Amino acid sequence: MKKMLITGGAGFIGSHVTRLIVNKYPSYDIVNLDALTYAGNLENLKDIESAPNYTFVKGNITDSILMAKLFGQYSFDAVVHLAAESHVDRSINDPMAFAKTNILGTINLLNEAKRTWNGKWEGKRFYHVSTDEVYGTLGESGLFTENTPYNPNSPYSASKASSDHFVRAYGETYGLPYIISNCSNNYGPNQFPEKLIPLFINNIINNKPLPVYGDGNYTRDWLYVKDHASSIDLLFHEGKNSETYNIGGFNEWKNIDLVKLLCRIMDKKLQRISGTSEKLITFVKDRPGHDLRYAIDASKINQDLGWKPSVTFEEGLTKTIEWYLSNEVWLKSVTSGDYQNYYTKQYN
Ligand code: NAD
Ligand code: TYD
Repeated sequence: MKKMLITGGAGFIGSHVTRLIVNKYPSYDIVNLDALTYAGNLENLKDIESAPNYTFVKGNITDSILMAKLFGQYSFDAVVHLAAESHVDRSINDPMAFAKTNILGTINLLNEAKRTWNGKWEGKRFYHVSTDEVYGTLGESGLFTENTPYNPNSPYSASKASSDHFVRAYGETYGLPYIISNCSNNYGPNQFPEKLIPLFINNIINNKPLPVYGDGNYTRDWLYVKDHASSIDLLFHEGKNSETYNIGGFNEWKNIDLVKLLCRIMDKKLQRISGTSEKLITFVKDRPGHDLRYAIDASKINQDLGWKPSVTFEEGLTKTIEWYLSNEVWLKSVTSGDYQNYYTKQYN
């Protein structure tokens, strides 16, 4: 029996985590708190919206009065914190929004957990979901381990790094029981089409240019979102307090190679002549401060808890493409209105 607060559950990763926990633990009381920013979408959780162990609350993690009210009302003993501003390009245009949600919002949650739990730490846990981007960039070789020094380069990664430090500081200073996980790039169903893979899937469907930043020789380490969700479930239940765990799929791809693979699968799925989608590739102005390479050493979670990804990249990417192709209504609804303004500002 747990009373769990999940933040950011209407977003991409949050919706997969929420669904997994709601379905797997019928005896838990789960509250999903989400501000429903442009990235939050209750359509992502349609299938569980009336589950008896699930409640949705619309609200902002920076709202301390609301946090006090919710902790008072539900007596949470666990927090799984995913709510964040999550897109690097947006952070370059508006760093303050990232500082507010990612840093101040996290401190606000920490304060409320500390106040409510009041030193009675037994059975309590604050799980903070973070990113490998806090480590900065790698050169051509090497991997991020849990001991790699933080060296964030974008306003997004700086805000996540700061939030990680605050979580650790609340552990060290007050004894708050916490776990942090730092995961590599996720992909899969329900990802907002501002990130590389869903943006390019959407553009291929609509025969629009595929804007590859710089020369495309940047490397990311990709993990299927349901595998990230399964690792969060495992770490939440079996991870050790005060520890950090890196999560990744040992699956590095140069952007340009990934985009070409995506184009090949899309041509087949859309029954287009082979090579059609690749013609859409357009090299555009690079992202400022663009990190060259991320790659995770995920051996700790593998050796300590036996976790490993369940799908290969080609399987995961195919499932992802199939999901976008069969969820045209979802895709259309999230790419209308404000998205068009964002797209024009970012790419034209
Ligand atoms: P997302 O942008 O898809 O979703 C974020 C969710 O948080 C949305 O539902 C949004 O409405 C909500 N939110 C934003 N600001 C809020 C606020 N102030 N109060 C309450 N809710 C708010 O993000 P995502 O890709 O699902 O990422 C989730 C978490 O995982 C983030 O903490 C991110 O840093 C981390 N992460 C993401 C990736 C990735 O590849 N996407 C990789 C590693 C870690
Ligand atoms: P993104 O999905 O934004 O994730 P992150 O910046 O957090 O790694 O970008 C993944 C990679 O793809 C990154 O190297 C930037 C690149 N990229 C493009 O080349 N074009 C694009 O339009 C986008 C959104 C990303």
